[in-house]
Amino acid sequence: MKVFLNQALPEAGMELLRKAQLEILLPEQEALSRADWINYCQQADVVVGLAAKGFDAAFFEQCPKVKAIALFSVGYDQVDIAAATQRNIPVSNTPDVLSRATSDVAFLLMQSVARLAAFNFERVKTGNWPQQFNPTAHLGQELYGKTLGIFGLGRIGFEMARKCKAAFDMKIIYHNRSPKPELEGELDATYVSFEALLERSDVLSLHANYTEASKDLFGADVFRKMKRNAILINTARGGFVHEADLYRALVEGVIWGAGLDVSSPEPMLRDNPLPGLQNVCVLPHIGSATVAARDGMARLVAENVIAFAKGERMPTVVNAEVYI
Ligand code: DGY
Repeated sequence: MKVFLNQALPEAGMELLRKAQLEILLPEQEALSRADWINYCQQADVVVGLAAKGFDAAFFEQCPKVKAIALFSVGYDQVDIAAATQRNIPVSNTPDVLSRATSDVAFLLMQSVARLAAFNFERVKTGNWPQQFNPTAHLGQELYGKTLGIFGLGRIGFEMARKCKAAFDMKIIYHNRSPKPELEGELDATYVSFEALLERSDVLSLHANYTEASKDLFGADVFRKMKRNAILINTARGGFVHEADLYRALVEGVIWGAGLDVSSPEPMLRDNPLPGLQNVCVLPHIGSATVAARDGMARLVAENVIAFAKGERMPTVVNAEVYI
């Protein structure tokens, strides 16, 4: 069974793959053109995707030999799941192992924006720490008792809510396609409509799975329905947010601040004005960037590949229907 990786996994995963004695195809150069990437995929039975884009319908046409895909991410928006399922190709992702790390970044962004931390750090770095104390300059917001709105109460949203409740006794409301009563108890969380989520959240944190249908969902119309003191946090996918509308909403005081770990496109374009705003903190998609999370992801990818190679069900398959 030939397994293609467009980049090496962290050692915890590579070790498992080597022990399983699978044939590993790993190119020397890390940045492959799409044509080169397709070329490698055409030779493989299993493709491991590390930040690899474009498992679209054309990919499946071009790579008929591929029998399984193992993603090094919890998100699977880079895969046309319907096309994979139609061909009976299981696709696995890496849930759970990164929920704490990613929700930590959402929590960090929330505090950073609320207290203008990135902006204030920039003042220090650029020598802009005036001698004269000003009691009304650069004031932040306190989060105690405020309302946290979670858009997409999955594992990461749950961890974010748990931290916000414990740290700031925040009230938790959430919106999903359907309520999740099994998660409400510990959080004392309330399911609300999308409109109510916008209207009531002091901090609105995005954690839903992204699909093209949600592209630019958070645009001008949505920002107008939010509170003027609201902070938007996005650690999910950049495509959720219309960035030009967000910039205008922040400059015009329609909402108060934004913390973004993701953008569209990624990397964020150099001339994007958002990082220049004092009420914004932008990070370069580091949600899962801890040793523990990345090792966990690597192990899970390897476990999925090995299970598939043994003819077993991939433990974290996304399109479970391929096994029915
Ligand atoms: C994920 O796992 O989907 C993260 O966004 C990747 O960093």
